[in-house]
This record gives sequence, C-alpha cells and structure tokens, in this order.
Amino acid sequence: MDDPSTATLPPRRLAVLISGEGTNLQALINAQNTLSLPNTCIVLVLSNRKNARGLIHASTTLPLIPTAYLSLQPFLKSNLGKTLEDYNVEVAHIVLHAKPDAVVCAGFMHIVSEGFLDVFKGTRILEGKEVLAREVPMINIHPALFGQFDGFEAFQKGEVDELGIMVHCVVKEVDHGEPLIQRRVKVVKEEAIEAYEERLHKVEWEIIVEATWIVLDEVQLPLSSNSSS
Ligand code: GAR
Repeated sequence: MDDPSTATLPPRRLAVLISGEGTNLQALINAQNTLSLPNTCIVLVLSNRKNARGLIHASTTLPLIPTAYLSLQPFLKSNLGKTLEDYNVEVAHIVLHAKPDAVVCAGFMHIVSEGFLDVFKGTRILEGKEVLAREVPMINIHPALFGQFDGFEAFQKGEVDELGIMVHCVVKEVDHGEPLIQRRVKVVKEEAIEAYEERLHKVEWEIIVEATWIVLDEVQLPLSSNSSS
C-alpha cells in the first residue's frame, strides 16, 4: 500500500549490488512499494558473478528489474591494459546510468575503491556524466557487529563472545562504516554454522529493509526528478 504523503513524488530509485544467493535482494524486492519501502522501485540489480542466483530473482520479478553483470577477471581479460580501478569506474558508470537515489550492497563481494566511492559522493565526475546534484548514499550489510570483522569465525576462535549483523554506510575501510542499524544475534553454544546462518539471515532481511528506508527517507528530493530521463 502506498503512503499517501509520498504518492505525488516520483518513486525513489534503488540500485542493488549482489554476488550470490540474493536473499537480501529478495527481501528488498518484497518490500518495494509496501509500507516498509513506500514509493520505491529497484531500478538495477548488478552482479559481479555471472551465476549469482540473485540475478534470477530480479529477472523473474514483475515488472522485470533491469540487471547487469560485470566481473573483474573477464573485464581485465577482454580489455588489455585496463586496471582494477578501470573496472571500478566501469561498475560506477553502469550504476550511475540507472540514476539511483541510493545504492545497497547486498552481499556484494567486491571491495570497491576509494575512487568508486568518490563518484557516488559527487567529488569525482566520470567522463560523460553530469555533476551529481547530491551524494548518492551507499550502504552495505555485513554479518558482524561494529568493530568485529569476521563474525562467526571470530566467535569460533574465541575472539568475540557475541555476534550480530549490521547495515552500515560504505567507507573505504572494508565493512567498517558506522552502522545505521545493528542487531545482536545470540549464539547458541555448539550450534552448527548452518543453523546460526539461518537465524542470522532472518534478521538480515528485516534490517536491510529498515536501513534502506532510513537512507531513502533522508533523500528529500529524488535525484531522478532533476534529470531528463
Ligand atoms: C549476507 O549474509 C551478508 O550479510 C553477507 O553476504 C551474505 C549475502 O547473502 N555480506 C558480507 O559478507 C559483506 N562482507 P545473500 O546473497 O543471500 O543476500
């Protein structure tokens, strides 16, 4: 159901970056245009892995969600002389082309460069692209609490005694941005990692939607309403 207060605004546009199963993407797909993510549509799903199951979720949703695939190694092989940074720029080009109001990394297993982040901050302008009217916020979901890097692995090594999940703003230090939301997920002694992951996922699907709404709600004027297409 649409929120009447947002009904006259153009929909907020979301780009989602994935690499794998896409269960968090599916949570966002289910939430778009509901009270959890009112007046929102996913305008691009980009994967850096060809066989990412999340690409299937996007292409079997009605209306269809545009998808893109760009993997580092094939990119470098078919563009001799190009670098990792060129790959980052190419990904940024594809994402910007979709004119997102926010970008969500939902299990995107590529470490984006500082230059990539600068593009979305609006401090670096890509060739052929216009100056951004404002920063495009980018968030990431990571299966650990703030300050813990490895989550379950750290727990098994006895390095941490509690675990959780956070959604944070993407910064150049991998998985280290200040959390927008984090939840503790109690670890049951001797629990198999599969069982823990199942419980963790359920929490992820809630908080990825909540955090996405936090950033989209702050986007007062959708970037897309300034543009010609
Ligand atoms: C999620 O568990 C997410 O927390 C994790 O990848 C998984 C993706 O699952 N992210 C990271 O590890 C980021 N460093 P999904 O493809 O089913 O959404």
